[in-house]
Amino acid sequence: MRSKFLSVVAVGALLASANALAQEYPAANKTITFVLPYAAGGPTDKAARDLAQSMSKAMGGHSIVIDNAAGASGSIGANKVAKASPDGYTLLFTHIAQATLSSFFRTLPYNVEKDFEYLGLVSENPMNLIGRPSLPSNNMAELVSWINANKGKINIANAGPGSASHLCGMLFQSTLKVDMTSVPYKGTAPAMTDLIGGQVDLMCDQTTTTIPQIEGKKVKSFAVTTSSRLSSPVLKDMPTMQEAGLKDFNVTIWQGLYAPKGTPAAVLKKLNDALKTAVKDPEFIRKQDAGGASVINDARNDPAGHKSFVMSEVTKWAPIIKSAGVYAD
Ligand code: MLT
Repeated sequence: MRSKFLSVVAVGALLASANALAQEYPAANKTITFVLPYAAGGPTDKAARDLAQSMSKAMGGHSIVIDNAAGASGSIGANKVAKASPDGYTLLFTHIAQATLSSFFRTLPYNVEKDFEYLGLVSENPMNLIGRPSLPSNNMAELVSWINANKGKINIANAGPGSASHLCGMLFQSTLKVDMTSVPYKGTAPAMTDLIGGQVDLMCDQTTTTIPQIEGKKVKSFAVTTSSRLSSPVLKDMPTMQEAGLKDFNVTIWQGLYAPKGTPAAVLKKLNDALKTAVKDPEFIRKQDAGGASVINDARNDPAGHKSFVMSEVTKWAPIIKSAGVYAD
């Protein structure tokens, strides 16, 4: 009887402290951190910084900082948030890896379905196959001939198994029935440096970071991965993979925000309200548009729509990844 009374008191105390946390959230003296599981300067980093700026504005100028916890294909940063205190001050900003890593890793230290609160998706991002500037090919037909003439000698950079660049590169190889040497980095920003320097041959990356490099003639561009051409002035004349003869090739990735499981509902609501204000911010929309990305403005901005979409992506990618037989430990 006494222990039942004590547990009722303990639950009451927990609820009271959760309510107090929610009421004062975000506390003026506490910074919100977006944990970013890839290197600084890459496309995920760029999207997170754009969102942080617009969400901060929506939260009365509250400070939001980025923590680049890169490594192990993005699983180190995701695990850091899965294990963080569920108080709304440590959040995960990540992309399609949230749906693909569980198929690539034999074991992951967190559970994608159970260890996170889903806060909303913010953007969809097309990808772009690019190459080192010294490649002899200038279009997709010449590139395919060069690849076929150099089988076994070609390498392709990516941000680790399950990353967006890896998925796209994996589909490119399986469609051409060619194996290339995969060169993993902590993100596509350091990979881009090596591509520009000619240390690696090819990479698929998000258009938000390829566009400036194509404009500056630092890399060669061969195709976009969407089913129709993009409207970006830099890429509007770039063929799609399908136009270039790679049947059914279609990769678009997405970016979203997560909190640790158990974050109080009132805190989640404040964060979701700020996210929904941010995706309507003309400045956020302009920045995504300039990078060829589109801002999501549908049911996936809400926790339930976000979660059911990610779970459908887990189901969609699992057989594709398993059939490729690529695993990470
Ligand atoms: C990826 O390929 O998954 C991303 O480009 C990662 C990153 O933002 O560096």
